[in-house]
Amino acid sequence: MTYEIRPATIRDLSEIYDIELAQFPEPWTKSMLKDEITNIATRRYTVATEYKKLVGYLGLMFVVDEVHVNTIGVVPGTERRGIGRTLLSEGMAAAHQRGAQRATLEVAASNVAAQALYRQFGFAPVGVRRNYYEKTGEDALILWADLPVAPRDDLRL
Ligand SMILES: CC(C)(COP(=O)(O)OP(=O)(O)OC[C@H]1O[C@@H](n2cnc3c(N)ncnc32)[C@H](O)[C@@H]1OP(=O)(O)O)[C@@H](O)C(=O)NCCC(=O)NCCS
Repeated sequence: MTYEIRPATIRDLSEIYDIELAQFPEPWTKSMLKDEITNIATRRYTVATEYKKLVGYLGLMFVVDEVHVNTIGVVPGTERRGIGRTLLSEGMAAAHQRGAQRATLEVAASNVAAQALYRQFGFAPVGVRRNYYEKTGEDALILWADLPVAPRDDLRL
């Protein structure tokens, strides 16, 4: 399946928020997401669509020559169909074109699905933020990757 990637707009806010609510124990608020989507100076939010229907989104933040993966999620029930990989692949290529030399993110220590996705893009752990997530008290791993990145089939689980 191929997915279309396009910039997120304010009209996507409700659907993005629904994914956020369903997929994260500590979801961003609608108002935070609105600010993120509309702040195109330092953010880059994209959505993946399948037959025009929104199936996933990716939020990037640019800080000097780094890009931070703020958030990524797919519609519940559509996992493991390549949507996350398509979003990240397009996003990392665009970030590099925009001048980012490195990419970083935090991921919950127990989130093996996301970690496996990031590993395919060359992300490697450099540290731990203890008790990073307020609700669960869970640690976050800090991952970094040098850009440009390309998904590597040999790192698939
Ligand atoms: C993480 C997430 C975005 C991945 O999106 P996805 O569309 O399901 O991922 P893909 O189908 O593109 O998978 C790409 C690779 O990621 C890894 N992966 C994805 N889900 C996995 C799982 N449940 N278990 C193990 N590996 C997994 C695999 O290596 C997979 O490649 P493969 O299917 O060829 O083996 C999705 O699971 C999600 O929305 N999770 C909830 C939100 C979240 O945790 N976001 C990350 C916050 S840091």
